[in-house]
Amino acid sequence: MLKLDNINVDISDNHILRDINFSMPSAATIGIVGRNGAGKTTLLRSIMGLTPLRTGDIWLDDCHLSKLPSYARAQHQVGYSPENRVIFPSMTVEENIRMPCNTQKLSRQEIDQRLEVVLEIVPDIIPMLKRSGAALSGGQGKMVALGRSLMVGTHLLLLDEPFQGLAPKLGLLYTEALSRLKNIRPKLCIVITESNAKLLGSIPDQIWTIERGSMQFHQEKK
Ligand SMILES: Nc1ncnc2c1ncn2[C@@H]1O[C@H](COP(=O)(O)OP(=O)(O)OP(=O)(O)O)[C@@H](O)[C@H]1O
Ligand SMILES: [Mg+2]
Repeated sequence: MLKLDNINVDISDNHILRDINFSMPSAATIGIVGRNGAGKTTLLRSIMGLTPLRTGDIWLDDCHLSKLPSYARAQHQVGYSPENRVIFPSMTVEENIRMPCNTQKLSRQEIDQRLEVVLEIVPDIIPMLKRSGAALSGGQGKMVALGRSLMVGTHLLLLDEPFQGLAPKLGLLYTEALSRLKNIRPKLCIVITESNAKLLGSIPDQIWTIERGSMQFHQEKK
């Protein structure tokens, strides 16, 4: 279970996230929908520990996530796919995908096993593995960023506007990857943001909205 308790975040003296109280059970997929500048990225960065909290606590099951530095949150199996995907151009796709596990100094065998599962979930990455990170289209980069976040995100996965700018065909492949993911890792918590709720289709079990940094429950899947 992911729990956000009384979260307030300021950036440059501007009050960006306001009194956020939110919880989601394991095995759920939550969509967070809000227009540009509403605070979606700030929310995910705060969960990841990349933007500091002014108030509040974040829990992932028994783990007091907000007490940990960002790198330690990744060690607690939190994966993050940022909206601007950040694929390193000087590395191959495979090196990009392995990178978060290499940073955690996991064994080669463990990383190979994780990669095998990730490629089962996102097989569309396989033909790109040896390619340079610089040689990807925006949409391909999003698939690779998903694969990379899955290497560590076995407990909680944060996806920031994955469908934004994806061509319909790639959007479909991405959706199929998420449904394989839910089968392979049924206990995983997934948080997906979007500015356009329609792009999320039937993926989320619940939709929350975020508006000027305040979050509200919106809709349960029918
Ligand atoms: N580094 C920063 N410096 C100053 N203000 C910032 C910074 N990052 C975010 N903000 C402000 O915080 C608010 C929320 O921004 P955020 O990027 O979280 O919104 P968003 O919902 O992700 O928007 P988008 O749909 O455009 O990605 C905006 O008003 C933005 O201008
Ligand atoms: Mg954003």
